[in-house]
Amino acid sequence: MAGMAAMGAIGGPLTDRAMVDWPALIALAVIFGLSLFIVTMASPRSPLDASMPALWMILRVLAAAQLALWPVKVLVNASDMAGVALRQAIALVPEVLRETRFGHDWRNTAPLALLLALLTWIPRPGRLRAGLLAIASAGILLAWALASHAIDFGKVAVAAYFGHEAAAGLWVSFLAGLWIVARRENIDPRSFENIAKRVSRCCGWSVLVLLLSGGYLAYMALGLSIEVLAHSLYGQILLAKVTIAGVAVGIGGYNRYRLVPAAADSPARKSLWRNVGVELILLLGAVGLAALLANTPPPRYHHMM
Ligand code: HEM
Repeated sequence: MAGMAAMGAIGGPLTDRAMVDWPALIALAVIFGLSLFIVTMASPRSPLDASMPALWMILRVLAAAQLALWPVKVLVNASDMAGVALRQAIALVPEVLRETRFGHDWRNTAPLALLLALLTWIPRPGRLRAGLLAIASAGILLAWALASHAIDFGKVAVAAYFGHEAAAGLWVSFLAGLWIVARRENIDPRSFENIAKRVSRCCGWSVLVLLLSGGYLAYMALGLSIEVLAHSLYGQILLAKVTIAGVAVGIGGYNRYRLVPAAADSPARKSLWRNVGVELILLLGAVGLAALLANTPPPRYHHMM
């Protein structure tokens, strides 16, 4: 089994794993961030009642999606480890769950995946339920960080990884929450402006945490070599991701300094809604590249092997 488990670490990116991780990561990161959006934004002063059904529907769909992807994740990993087709890998699943670190992590977090679905589908959700969702999804994100490349670079790298995932989840989800509120909530312009300012503040801090934690993780994976950054597959995927992130930060900056201050005005609100939509699409792409990065052996691994 050890030979089988190490096979994937030497070759190219494990795109099939990344294709499963991408939607699962989006689901987990957005469940984490959107539940915190509900906890922090839905106060008695601004109940967001008209948006709540849409926000909880998104949480339900994402919780069901991540639960449905769980068995797919173990099957794809088993087929990668053994180098066999998915159909043949079915018989290997019990062995993978019993004997591999991935299998143990999967087993330990599967109950949390189930809990996410239960917490979202039980009727009459509220802020307390949203708080429990944030804690449970944070647990799974932490497990992902502990199962990631960061584990080979030490505790600080694991903490940076978790902080990075959480910041990504907050940025994407607070934008998604604002996009829905801007679309649905017939709240008075002042209240909308207030929510837009609070969302912008949260996104600003998330970007800062993403840049610092991402920079640290990139250094751990690549070192300080421009050569390795430019010519390694890991480096090239990272450059593509940072480019997309850079465009999203640019749009976010424009929103923050030009549109949010005028968010009480309907034209600015419409432009903000449109720009936030574009920013969201870019960030979902960045998460896709992140999933590919997480399934590509970092150059510094080779030195450690
Ligand atoms: C300057 C910007 C950024 C840098 C330098 C950066 C760098 C990194 C690095 C090095 C990793 C570790 C990959 C690995 O080896 O496992 C990572 C993971 C990740 N990044 Fe970023 N990142 C940046 C921006 C973003 C943005 C904008 C998002 C999304 C909104 C994002 C989402 C993620 C996620 C979700 C992971 C975890 C992937 C997984 O566990 O499958 N990052 N990032």
